[in-house]
Amino acid sequence: MQATRVSDLLKIKYPIIQGAFGGGLSSTKLLATISNAGGLGSFGAHHLSSDQIRSLSNEIFSMTTRPFAINLWISDHDKNGLQLNQKDFEKAYQVLKPYFDELKLPKPDYPSRFGEKFSEQIEAILEVRPPVFSFVYGIPDKTILDECRKKSIITIGTAITPDEAVALDEAGVDLIVATGFEAGGHRVAFLKEAEKSLFGTLSLIPQTVDRVKAPVIAAGGIADQRGVKAALALGAEGVQIGTAFLATEESNAGDLHRSKLFSSEARYTDLTRVYSGRLARGMENKMMLEHVGHAPYPAQGWFTGKIKSEAIKQGRADLMSLWCGQSAPLIKYHKAEEVFNSLLIGSLNEEKV
Ligand SMILES: Cc1cc2nc3c(=O)[nH]c(=O)nc-3n(C[C@H](O)[C@H](O)[C@H](O)COP(=O)(O)O)c2cc1C
Repeated sequence: MQATRVSDLLKIKYPIIQGAFGGGLSSTKLLATISNAGGLGSFGAHHLSSDQIRSLSNEIFSMTTRPFAINLWISDHDKNGLQLNQKDFEKAYQVLKPYFDELKLPKPDYPSRFGEKFSEQIEAILEVRPPVFSFVYGIPDKTILDECRKKSIITIGTAITPDEAVALDEAGVDLIVATGFEAGGHRVAFLKEAEKSLFGTLSLIPQTVDRVKAPVIAAGGIADQRGVKAALALGAEGVQIGTAFLATEESNAGDLHRSKLFSSEARYTDLTRVYSGRLARGMENKMMLEHVGHAPYPAQGWFTGKIKSEAIKQGRADLMSLWCGQSAPLIKYHKAEEVFNSLLIGSLNEEKV
């Protein structure tokens, strides 16, 4: 596979990135497998405290000497989401109570916080100095980007519209992931509402490439060599794959979720705010289709996380997020290295494997 500005800047052999998974679905094993194979492995750390990020980084540095990325969410809450007051807590609980009751879960206590703070997490990132810091939901302050540059940490920002890509480019972010709405997981909008920022990969990539100087990595809907070739033909210089790696044995997805990714149910996905309070793509299931409403992020995710832990124990795939991209029906492989090798192309017209 040809070198590009993406592989050169990231100092990797092939411009293939294993996308980060937040919420506990990333694994150091998956990251190390991909980094050691010559791509860039990533770990989604937005749910981790600063101390957890420090130990995560020690573990990763012991597993690979190759470049890897740690990933955070810049905007860490929506209005009132970090400090939902008691009254709104009660309201949010009442909306979700039927699911708590169905699973025989007691009402949870009001917590001291609903999620981690970016301001604390970024301190840990700057201290542990991962080779690459990737992020979604915005642009870090200039002081943070300057500090990354000083410490030789390469930055990758994520855009879901061409305007967002221009904003990242103007801020001096090193590389830009442009993610179409086919992708599994969250629509990481930061200039406009997510619902008003829905671009498909085929439209997003060429428009983005035409407007930015930074190299562009295409994401969303890429699951085999046809997708890789299409992305490169549109002007991307690298690809980021999520769902196909999420389905592998090395990811931290549970068996229930993984088996669903290989099932015919993965043909039917939709965008919903019901699981986290922010718009995200997953498989259609009872909880998504019932559309009960939502509290702001991250409070909604705090509640549904409790439902999900119990739903997993009870084998109830209808009451948990089943994140999944639109190209899941294309996935074939159960091992991360097989997925990785299957994506390598000699050139745009030639298959390597
Ligand atoms: C379960 C799940 C969690 C994700 N979490 C994050 C995240 O925390 N940060 C991030 O940058 N991207 C995240 N993504 C996006 C992926 O890294 C990747 O860009 C996307 O899945 C690519 O589209 P695809 O699923 O069609 O391959 C997530 C995707 C999934 C499926």
